[in-house]
Amino acid sequence: MASYLLAIDQGTTSSRAIVFNREGNVVLTAQREFEQWFPQDGWVEHDPEAIWETVVATCREAIERLEGGVELIDGIGITNQRETTLVWDRKTGKPLYNAIVWQDRRTADACERLREAGHAEDLQARTGLLIDPYFSASKLAWILDNVPGARERAERGELAFGTVDTFLIWRLTGGKVHATDATNASRTALFNIHEQCWDATLLERFDIPESLLPEVKDSSDDFGRADAEWLGTELPIAGVAGDQQAALVGQACFTPGMGKSTYGTGCFMIVNMGQEAGISRNRLLTTVGYRLNGVPTYAMEGSIFVAGATVQWLRDGLQLFADAAETEALASKTRRGHSVYLVPAFTGLGAPHWDPKARGAILGLTRDTGIAEIVAAGLQAVCYQTRDLQVCMNDDMSAGSNTLRVDGGMVGNNWVMQFLADMLGVQVDRPTVLETTALGAAYLAGLHLGWYRNLDEIAGLWRCERSFHPAMEEEERSRLYAGWLEAVDRVRTSPG
Ligand code: G3P
Repeated sequence: MASYLLAIDQGTTSSRAIVFNREGNVVLTAQREFEQWFPQDGWVEHDPEAIWETVVATCREAIERLEGGVELIDGIGITNQRETTLVWDRKTGKPLYNAIVWQDRRTADACERLREAGHAEDLQARTGLLIDPYFSASKLAWILDNVPGARERAERGELAFGTVDTFLIWRLTGGKVHATDATNASRTALFNIHEQCWDATLLERFDIPESLLPEVKDSSDDFGRADAEWLGTELPIAGVAGDQQAALVGQACFTPGMGKSTYGTGCFMIVNMGQEAGISRNRLLTTVGYRLNGVPTYAMEGSIFVAGATVQWLRDGLQLFADAAETEALASKTRRGHSVYLVPAFTGLGAPHWDPKARGAILGLTRDTGIAEIVAAGLQAVCYQTRDLQVCMNDDMSAGSNTLRVDGGMVGNNWVMQFLADMLGVQVDRPTVLETTALGAAYLAGLHLGWYRNLDEIAGLWRCERSFHPAMEEEERSRLYAGWLEAVDRVRTSPG
């Protein structure tokens, strides 16, 4: 009889439940969006109950639509928006405050103070991260300092902290399991990635009581069983990873130098580093790619905050087209090598610039610039930014690769994929299954449940739908990229 795995993909704008078969193909998908809260300039919050309700609703919908029902599901894998921070009451499971989302910048000043106090290098050495509001630690400290009574209650051991995976595991198991996996832990800025444990020095520096913290498990592990109350029968939770690391697994990037780039709202490029946690000289992040049998595999990550969001802005903000699918035809109309650049620094610049105060610009306009050129410039910006990351990665890592695996909403655009291959000068591979994030969570659960013997077996399931080969002359590539760097320089507020 057929059997399946249920992957929960709890993302920034929606929750999804996806059923996979053993070959790693999508059987069906259920999705629900939820509201984004912006209580103040730079603040971004989610209602934890909306996260929970959309997760349960999508799982139930997926199970209802599955022919044969829940009896055919062997287990659950969870993948999630990373860094987003929650604190709840251990007795009631009730959150003390909304989830503070990874994009939230409210702790910028607190981070600046830590940087000024000279803690950046030490934090990077321990965690592989930079001091930035992006990560969980300063958000957790903010909740303890701003919700009345929270710090005292935390010190009495009454509260639990978690990223979204931990919150979902807690709720699904009825409070029996308080755990996370090493990939999610590695995004908190409290986890020592070399020792693979919570770091006492950092807990002191951010003033976080240890009693709040979840147990850190492998990415493929026993995370307890979801109560029958939620999905109709008890199901083991057997795989957990942050969404970008899950995509690394879903793309089967298991050997050092292999990398993937996910083009969603933002773009996250992650390259496998093997068992050596090298630290970037170029302000990229070192993170846990996955941890199996207690052995971490590290990865280097470049995080760009705006990718697909540019297309959304061109469509909804400027109303240059009605449907994102039109951008391919529009961009194809432009003259090769046109000089328009769009720098999408709507919320500052992420890696490798980390300039939160920079803002966007369109540069190089001429009398014949039209909608097509501006749209093309928006699409090209995503490729130029990927090249920014590639340049840093090549400098940081000895094992460069001549292919990049891609996924996410934007990769359906063939024009963008060809320009990406041209700009990077490497082959760009688009897989048949584009739901790589959820697939990674399913694979991790499948490994623990004995569906797959090892990573090689999973790698054997990866299928390429189309490869894009670089076709641009080196001279043209260099000229265009130099124009991009000049455009970025014009919007920066701090020197590179
Ligand atoms: O680090 C943030 C990232 O995990 C968010 O991913 O796909 O939910 O926007 P996504």
